[in-house]
Amino acid sequence: MNLPPSVGLSGTDYPVYEIDHLTCKARVALHGAHVMSWRPQGEEEVLYLSPDAVYREGKAIRGGIPICWPWFNAHPTDPDAPSHGIARTRFWEMIGAEEDEEGVALRFAMADGIWKAEVTVKAGLDLEVSLESVNTTEIPIVVSGALHSYFSVSDIENVRVVNLEDADFLDTIGEPTMRKQKGAITFSGEVDAIYDSAGKVLLVDDVSGRTILIEKGGSPSTVVWNPWAEKAVAMGDLPDEDYRKFCCIEAAIANDKAVIVMPGNSHVLSTRISVEE
Ligand code: BG6
Repeated sequence: MNLPPSVGLSGTDYPVYEIDHLTCKARVALHGAHVMSWRPQGEEEVLYLSPDAVYREGKAIRGGIPICWPWFNAHPTDPDAPSHGIARTRFWEMIGAEEDEEGVALRFAMADGIWKAEVTVKAGLDLEVSLESVNTTEIPIVVSGALHSYFSVSDIENVRVVNLEDADFLDTIGEPTMRKQKGAITFSGEVDAIYDSAGKVLLVDDVSGRTILIEKGGSPSTVVWNPWAEKAVAMGDLPDEDYRKFCCIEAAIANDKAVIVMPGNSHVLSTRISVEE
């Protein structure tokens, strides 16, 4: 594959596409079609990447934007199936790389039995990730998943997630319970919540002064997650205190919102991330 001038390739066993374009710098791993880093021109890094992330087939990178697919979290019926699906732990195939004055577009594909998907990463002043689930079989397939974005924050206790006010959500801490969001989301303990919301959200960092806009397509659910201290200590690929450095806001299709893709059809789950002025 010929790469455009703004895209380099580092690593052979573990290839990473290194984007250095007028509009942004970004890194995308072939493993998982995983955006590891994105820094639009004139801004600080937007994504959090764990310094203890493990880079090997069979393991998901901790941080960046894992592609969770074709199911979200536990498999609906098979307890032995990997959490968050099969896409984030394997190498994908690169099928396209282009650039223009607005940025760089990289396209990846994977196929495994009935599962077939393409991911397009467009990195420029905005970052767009789209995941197309393609049904080439003769039966309907049921798809869920998430673009599990880890956003870098000054401190988790400094941030607010805005625009989910009044949304219904499944609070999965302890016994899963449906609740209604009151006001902005703030963090003072573990949060693991699936919101019934297809709309955009804002991540406001009151100390760094940065606001990140997260827009979504084909995504009836928004997942907000931070493991907090105790769970972070139990995670081997995350430094104990680093739960303070990120907030996950995921464009998702979760639980009862799973999408049925008919034979010959496809479904696109997407997110567009931008730094607000
Ligand atoms: C979130 C889930 O999307 O991902 C959480 O809502 C889960 O329940 C988290 O703990 C991280 O999952 P993993 O498999 O990457 O550790």
